[in-house]
Amino acid sequence: MPKLTVIDRSGDETTIEAPEGVTVMEAIRDNGFDDLLALCGGCCSCATCHVYVDEAWADKAAAAGEDENDLLDSSDHRTRFSRLSCQIALTPALDGLRVTIAPED
Ligand code: FES
Repeated sequence: MPKLTVIDRSGDETTIEAPEGVTVMEAIRDNGFDDLLALCGGCCSCATCHVYVDEAWADKAAAAGEDENDLLDSSDHRTRFSRLSCQIALTPALDGLRVTIAPED
């Protein structure tokens, strides 16, 4: 199972494992992180699953689609490492991925 390291809003770092194919949002939500609301359940319509992908991993995840890009534009905290975690599926290629939960908008 791919490993995922999550840095929460207080700066605490936790490494979890998640089944291949689940999204980063699902992995974070199902491991009890309160910081990530994921209000729309992963339909790419709320932007409350905003994370920053570690720079070393930024090119390994598939690029953001148009809807994701538009939603990220609505965040005051967008950076070039911003992604919606519900739009990144965990694959073996992403084993070891590191993400930081973005500040709340
Ligand atoms: S959970 Fe709503 S956009 Fe990701």
